[in-house]
Amino acid sequence: MSRLIVVSNRVNLSRDTGAGAVGGLAAAIAAALRERPGIWFGWSGETTPQYTGQIAMERIGEVTVARVDLEEQDVEEYYNGYANKTLWPLFHNRIDLTAYERPFDAGYARVNRRFAEALAPLIAPDDLIWVHDYHLAPLARELRALGVKNRIGFFLHIPWPARQLLTTLPGHRKLVEALFHYDLIGFQTEDHLTAVTDYLAHEIGAAPISATGEVEAFGLRTQLGVFPIGIEAPDFRDGSRSPLGEESFQRMRESQAGRKMVLGVDRLDYSKGLEERFLSYEQFLAAHEEQREKVFLLQIATLSRDSVEAYQELRGRLDAIAGRVNGAYGTVDWVPLRYINSGYRQDELAGIYRAAHVGLVTPLRDGMNLVAKEYVAAQDPEDPGVLILSRFAGAAAQMGSALIVNPYDRDDVAAAIQRALSMGYAERRKRWERLMETVARDDVSAWRTRFVDALGAPRRPRPRLANDAA
Ligand code: G6P
Repeated sequence: MSRLIVVSNRVNLSRDTGAGAVGGLAAAIAAALRERPGIWFGWSGETTPQYTGQIAMERIGEVTVARVDLEEQDVEEYYNGYANKTLWPLFHNRIDLTAYERPFDAGYARVNRRFAEALAPLIAPDDLIWVHDYHLAPLARELRALGVKNRIGFFLHIPWPARQLLTTLPGHRKLVEALFHYDLIGFQTEDHLTAVTDYLAHEIGAAPISATGEVEAFGLRTQLGVFPIGIEAPDFRDGSRSPLGEESFQRMRESQAGRKMVLGVDRLDYSKGLEERFLSYEQFLAAHEEQREKVFLLQIATLSRDSVEAYQELRGRLDAIAGRVNGAYGTVDWVPLRYINSGYRQDELAGIYRAAHVGLVTPLRDGMNLVAKEYVAAQDPEDPGVLILSRFAGAAAQMGSALIVNPYDRDDVAAAIQRALSMGYAERRKRWERLMETVARDDVSAWRTRFVDALGAPRRPRPRLANDAA
């Protein structure tokens, strides 16, 4: 079996942390690599005064990780800059928050080149290389320039924006052209794929993609496909029953004091719709006097990218809304909105999921949203909770048996909370069973297998490129 070299911005391997805390990508990659020999390469999350390119190799459980440190300027221009101030907001439809600065561009190119230079010597001829997410769009081009001829695939975990938004980005053509150096490009949903093909047709004049997903543009050929990411469902099912899961379940039940719990678990990110969620919950409390003191919202919002201003500002606004809601509705022994910023270990989180009567997952835009799947997987089959899911999460394409809401519509979300809290057992169970079927079937192994099989499948040779090394 050929090795799998996985590359992502950050190698965040910690079985101790819940996926909701570190982001779905890290959890999914860790799970995928457990089943196949390979290496996971990326940034350590550490900075050094000067970039050295030195790789620290380490074996963590079944996975070999190879990490490099970055220098301060790289982090500022590449990670905080182009990745998280330019691409992230743009790809989540927030052109109002999208900042574009020349140094970001240079930093993005520099780090991708550095990654390619550090990685190239580790690559054996029949390795498959699988690159993840928006931080690394140009990596294949850089690897090709160094003479790497292996199959290289790219998976975009976040949405692809509509053409009208993407074209606001200076250098959008260069970004898309870089992607054509991959052999296979995967997206989370059909909608994202449609947005890409629309861009290619209108901006580049590419012919429609073939039945097998092949498309030619910029004198290059690649293959596009949809590969919805999943979770390791048994980890959450069993985790919620593990000693730690059981303990946190019991602790939640005690602290609920007979009240129903609505739960949100997210990175603290403007794409997650946290402000809108709080306001919808406030509306629910205003509209349903009879529910007050009978329910509370627990929102776990793990801090993320906190050197980026938009995240700091959002945090301030959330603090204010939470304070206002609790001030207005709370009583001496009832906190309507429990809002916390710490992260939880996976099993602990699974226990908290199981204790929640309602899972409230209402991003304004999200590639997939694995919290929705984790919540379902951790439920007690005999007494499952109800999932409320934003129509703008990629997960909604697979999870139609959730209560699907428009997160911008407070009335809609407030009504869904009320409906979820009063849903009868038979409906609750039927909906959960249908959701669980998808979560268990389209799991992380199915995702990995489909992508890696497609990447390794025989195909026509790539056209020879002007900037390929001889
Ligand atoms: C999202 C992105 C991932 C990223 C994760 C955590 O899920 O798609 O690429 O790893 O967020 O973000 P961070 O910036 O903390 O690594």
